Amino acid sequence: MWNCVPTMSNTSNTNHRFPDDFVWGAATAAYQIEGAIDEDGRGESIWDRFSHTPGKVVNGDTGDIACDHYHRWQDDIQLMRRLGLQAYRFSVAWPRILPEGRGRINEAGLAFYDRLVDGLLEAGITPWVTLYHWDLPQVLDDAGGWTNRATADAFAEYTEAITQRLGDRVKHWITLNEPWCSSFLSYHIGEHAPGHKNFSEALQAVHTLLLAHGKAVPIVRRNSPGAQVGITLNLSQAYPATESAADQAAARRYDGYFNRWFLDPLYGRGYPEDIVALYSDVMPPIEAGDFQTIAAPTDFLGLNYYSPSFIHDNPNDPLLGVGHTRLEDAEYTAMNWAIYPQGLYDQLLRVPRDYPTGPLYITENGAAYDDAPPQAVDGELRVDDAKRTHYYALHLDAARRAIEAESPLKGYFAWSLMDNFEWAFGYAKRFGITYVDYQTQQRVLKDSGRWYSRVIAANALDVE
Ligand code: FCB
Repeated sequence: MWNCVPTMSNTSNTNHRFPDDFVWGAATAAYQIEGAIDEDGRGESIWDRFSHTPGKVVNGDTGDIACDHYHRWQDDIQLMRRLGLQAYRFSVAWPRILPEGRGRINEAGLAFYDRLVDGLLEAGITPWVTLYHWDLPQVLDDAGGWTNRATADAFAEYTEAITQRLGDRVKHWITLNEPWCSSFLSYHIGEHAPGHKNFSEALQAVHTLLLAHGKAVPIVRRNSPGAQVGITLNLSQAYPATESAADQAAARRYDGYFNRWFLDPLYGRGYPEDIVALYSDVMPPIEAGDFQTIAAPTDFLGLNYYSPSFIHDNPNDPLLGVGHTRLEDAEYTAMNWAIYPQGLYDQLLRVPRDYPTGPLYITENGAAYDDAPPQAVDGELRVDDAKRTHYYALHLDAARRAIEAESPLKGYFAWSLMDNFEWAFGYAKRFGITYVDYQTQQRVLKDSGRWYSRVIAANALDVE
């Protein structure tokens, strides 16, 4: 039914070129790279607490030091220059700005991002700032975290502080990264901080997160004139495992749970009724005006894409009646995620067809592999990661084909600039286009990074 053998298309006559104004970048997130958790007045985050709780993260790894980016940011900007990045997506650590979650502003925290932004601009690299990439101040979690509606107001306060400070120079803002992860994965599946296992808490968390987004958008606009503001979602392109009516209906339900539950309210439709009907007992309270707040107009939509879902009907699953089918003849990355670039293509066409998204950006895409440490080749340190390069090539080809088919895709950010703390997997999974030796903090550009820099320079895929 689907083509499981990923190949680059050769049907195009465009020389695999991207539009002239296509944006090429790479992405990171604060907790995954910064380290320096106790410095300059930073408060505790839920990921500090979670990673220090035995059994939550592989090998007991924590972000205490991570890539030490907090001290090495200047070198890291040099690395970005070497890659030829045009844009760099990073996140701000809320607990550096408001260590108590709200109220007192920590000047030293603001000053760090101030320097980083100036450094990027001097290097000719456009900063794209994510306001929330999962490191909620612990004190806010003590008061209920995202299950507490007041956290949306705290987020508005934080947004006010950071956009007042950086809004003159930062013109690309992403409110939230992947709210599915900060709700379902964190409050229902329990794999991410704060590690709860309660479905109705997860639904309340979604609602607070969406409110936080909606409250933040006008604040960004006020403090950052002329800025572009959007949100980043990790949608799951949901395919029925077979053509049976039952599997098709199951895939539709899964699409409702994963995708429409976020897209519908963001684009003014409220929560999708077919799914509300399934959630009747566990729905969070919704107040008058909430959906207007959530549907604040945005300038773009960010999409993080890694792998799609193949869904079958499963009567044993109490809430949604769905199950995941493993693609037998697909290749898998070290995360055990199927490689399926057509999913990216389909998503890049489906989302703007069904919703008035405006421009799309792929704000993350990439692959984990078990890279061997750097080896000297002709006097130069190299990391041979041909599989990762292949993954990028396949997905960029899908992206380029989607643009040809009139998807409004305007840019692409590789995940990640460097190996880093991969949440519940700690340092066991490497997603970087740069290898990080965590003992010495040495960075070595992998072969995929070298390849990516040639793609950026050529603005095309047909590079050696
Ligand atoms: C995404 C996260 C990012 C990274 C990648 C692999 O879900 O946004 O921080 O962990 O997955």
